[in-house]
This record gives sequence, structure tokens and C-alpha cells, in this order.
Amino acid sequence: MDITSEIMTRESRAIMNTYTRQPICLVRGSGARVWDAEGNEYLDFVAGVAVNSVGHCHPRVVQAIKAQVERLIHTSNLYYIENQVVLAERLRELSGMDKAFFCNSGAESVEAALKLVRKAKGSSDLVAAVGSFHGRTLGALGTTYKPAYREPFRPLNEARFVPYNEIEALKAAVGRDTAALILEPVQGEAGVHVPDEDYLRAARQICDDRGAMLIFDEVQTGFGRTGKWFGKDHSGVCPDLMTLAKAVAGGLPMGVMLASEEYSNVLQRGDHASTFAGSPLLCASALAAIGAIEDEGLVERSREMGSYLRDRLEDLGQKEVRGLGLMVGLDISIPAADVVSQAREKGVLLNNTGEETIRMVPPLVVGVEQIDRVVKVLAEILE
Ligand SMILES: Cc1ncc(COP(=O)(O)O)c(C=O)c1O
Repeated sequence: MDITSEIMTRESRAIMNTYTRQPICLVRGSGARVWDAEGNEYLDFVAGVAVNSVGHCHPRVVQAIKAQVERLIHTSNLYYIENQVVLAERLRELSGMDKAFFCNSGAESVEAALKLVRKAKGSSDLVAAVGSFHGRTLGALGTTYKPAYREPFRPLNEARFVPYNEIEALKAAVGRDTAALILEPVQGEAGVHVPDEDYLRAARQICDDRGAMLIFDEVQTGFGRTGKWFGKDHSGVCPDLMTLAKAVAGGLPMGVMLASEEYSNVLQRGDHASTFAGSPLLCASALAAIGAIEDEGLVERSREMGSYLRDRLEDLGQKEVRGLGLMVGLDISIPAADVVSQAREKGVLLNNTGEETIRMVPPLVVGVEQIDRVVKVLAEILE
């Protein structure tokens, strides 16, 4: 039995069956490349689901983790953490938001936002978009669209869902009693949907008119993924709350909820907390990852490489190519899961978000030749 088959057998006995996994076990990575336990190399256009934005094992991140791990790993939030403050200051500068609450994942950052909203507004009425994905914890799940995800776990505090990118639908749904509207600036799990230019601005206006809070879930769109630091920067809109995770800490688990000045003092001592959140180790890694994005011009690179990737995908003459920066969706007319399997066998990791949609969120360090290779593999399969 090869190593992977053995791991698969043991996994089925020891780990709950909640994931649909590709039949490979990745053991090493560098930049946009990864290797499996059998020694096969892949170009990684999944990047840990938009986590490894600076590439696998970026030297600066590795160095920062090594240095911090030898000094201090964890202290809890019972004590002041110097680099947590430095990171919060960096996030303030980059996002234009005011204060941070640190947590450990995307769902937790949404959870924190929903708690803040509840305390600020005293209402549980939420509006979210059809196709939205905001996480799987019981609070966040109520704002995640896919009925199959929610159905087994009712009762939940479920949002009212309106079609994405339809301003009239927002006007009809957001009322005087609505606590908050939560939106992804570009929808990710739904298959990469970029809204019209005026949509997020209209959302801001409608929320202001009705007294509802506006949350942007930037868990996937943050940190250069869309060719700007944050997805919101394409529209110039400032939300009341912003949720972050995925790429923030260069591959380690971190979530952050940011609040605008108006709402940055709603949560007070005892209202929310997390043991691991914003540990010295996680913050060292995040500061290194953000430094790498900045110094290596990865936001601009995401814009350039993203537009190159989309142009090349257009040449394939498939149904539709969508995206912003290196957050790209491709609609095809054959089952996307089959394409993902065949691409894997040809050394390319892709991800399908729907029956006929491929999503590409490669590391932002990806190069032209690597993009060419992926498009060539896709062309061969789609022929
Ligand atoms: C926009 C968005 N919000 C929230 C989440 C949940 O993040 P996590 O899996 O870290 O809980 C995701 C994950 O894909 C996401 O894309």
C-alpha cells in the first residue's frame, strides 16, 4: 500500500467524515508549488483556500515563526501582547477601520461581528445575500446561504437572503428594524461573483438610511486577493464592521474583526474573548506576511497576474470567466469535479465551487509561466 492509501484508510477510522478530500496528501510546499507524499509536484491554484497568499513557506514568514517560537508562543489575553498591538496598528493603517478584535478563524470573526451587532442594535434581524458563505458556527451559519448547510442545524438565527448585486432587493429587505446587512465584496464560495460598481455604495446608503449596520466579510477578499488590499477598496465604501481571516497570518489560523470608530467601543470587558487569539506566534507570522505582501508588491501583482489569468482563460472560449485580481471563477459546460480530478492527475490543483464552476485563488506570488501551464492543462482537459 502506498503512503497516501494508508493515510486514507487510517483517516476514515480516526477522523469524522466531514470533508470531501482529493486523494492526495500534501507534505511540502514552496511558493505556488506543493508536493505529495508520493513525491509528485503540483501547481497550487487553491492555496489552502485563499490562505497561502504569500506562497507556501514564504522565507520571511518561516523566519518570523522560527524566531518567535523560540521566544514566546502563547500567553493568553490575560496579559498585554506587544506584537498584537503592532498588528492592530498595521490593520488600522491598511483598512481605515478603527479597532480590532482578534480570534482564530473566519467563522469566529463573523461570530464576533454578529455579537457586536446584537449588542449595538438589540435586534436579531439580519440580511445576507443568496450564495453567501460566512462560516459554519451556529451564528455565522445563519447568514450562510446554502440551505443544505443550515437545514440539519435549525433552529438558527437565520438571515433573510436577497439576490446578490440587486440594489432594489436590498431596498426592499433592509428595514428600520434590521440590525445589519452582511455582504462579501466579491462572493467567493458562490463561484466568484463581482458586483456592479455601484452595488456596495448603494448598500452603504441603504444601511445609513434605515439605521442598519453594514458588515463586509473580507475573509476571502482581504490582503490583496482582489488586486487591492481589501475588496471594499474597489468601491471606496467603509463598512461598520469588517471580518478577516484566511491570508492574514501567512498560513497560521487567525481571524480578526475590525470595527469603525462609531462601533469600536461597543464590545467591552467580558463581552467576548478567546484563549488563543492574537498570540505572539500568530501575530509574528501575520506581521511577516503583511510585510511580504507590502514589500514584494503582491497587491499590484495580484491585479496584473489576475488580469493575465482571466485573459488567458477567456481564450479557452468557455461559458464565462469572472473575477477581480487573483480571485477567479471559470464556468464550464462539463462537470467541474471531473476537471478538478483530471487537472490533479496532470499536476495542477484546482477547486470547484459549483457543478460547473472552477475557482482559482493561487498564491499572489504566482508567475506567468505557471499561469500558462495551468491554462494549458485546462485547455487539454476541456478539449
Ligand atoms: C467569505 C468567507 N467568510 C467566512 C468563511 C469562514 O472561514 P473559516 O473557514 O476560517 O471559518 C469563509 C471560508 O471560506 C469565507 O470565504
